Amino acid sequence: MLVRERLSILPLRSPSTRGPSIRQPDKATAADARAKGAAARLPRHAAATERNRDPILAVLQQVLPTRGLLLEISSGTGEHAAYMTPRLSSDLLWQPSDVAPEAIVDIDGHARESGCARINPAVVLDVRWPSWPVDSADALLCCNMIHIAPWTAAAGLFVGGARILRQGAPLLLYGPFRRRGVHTAPSNAAFDQSLKARDASSGVRCLDTEVEPLAESAGFRLDRVFEMPANNFLVLFRRIGA
Ligand SMILES: C[S@@+](CC[C@H](N)C(=O)[O-])C[C@H]1O[C@@H](n2cnc3c(N)ncnc32)[C@H](O)[C@@H]1O
Repeated sequence: MLVRERLSILPLRSPSTRGPSIRQPDKATAADARAKGAAARLPRHAAATERNRDPILAVLQQVLPTRGLLLEISSGTGEHAAYMTPRLSSDLLWQPSDVAPEAIVDIDGHARESGCARINPAVVLDVRWPSWPVDSADALLCCNMIHIAPWTAAAGLFVGGARILRQGAPLLLYGPFRRRGVHTAPSNAAFDQSLKARDASSGVRCLDTEVEPLAESAGFRLDRVFEMPANNFLVLFRRIGA
């Protein structure tokens, strides 16, 4: 059941199916996607966001700065941005992004429906790009991306995050993780198998032996790990010595 639920929040094609090339920022893609998609369809919906948004929001309310720019990586449908931004500090702006140009229509659509003016228009952003279309932020949030994408995406997330965050700024990572090499629930082990069957370069990552060393090598320290419902974690890293 959990496996199906998790896969159902993959509304968009993984970039790993697009071959090895990593595109550079192309400002036309977001505009093109808006032009093609706006009239064509309603924004897509990911059911899991309704289940996990309140627990995630409760942590964000504790740890995010009260002002500045939050850059969300891999926004997907954009429903987290639409739900959470009005419930966060009124001095905080939310910048959604996704690698998939077709996601822009969903993200902007949900933002519009929320009526919240503190959600910026979404940008196309592949974490593996050597430069991002957002060159500084006060916090970074990435939900449910590093297990569905190749490991190079996790590396790109931390390397890019280190480029744009100042010392002490938070990088928050939400999703399932193995701990000390071991799955935290049978459902996560099954989910891992299903991910790998689709794409051998994806899979549930180990927080302790894979993600934390990667983060440290890019200039982050692990600050806190929040246990979340449905065997997920929200992991708070902080930028060190920028
Ligand atoms: C499972 S969805 C999660 C969406 C949303 N964050 C959520 O929790 O509902 C994974 C998202 O990661 C995005 N993604 C995959 N690879 C990426 C990359 N290299 N850079 C940025 N986003 C990426 C996909 O396009 C997709 O929207």
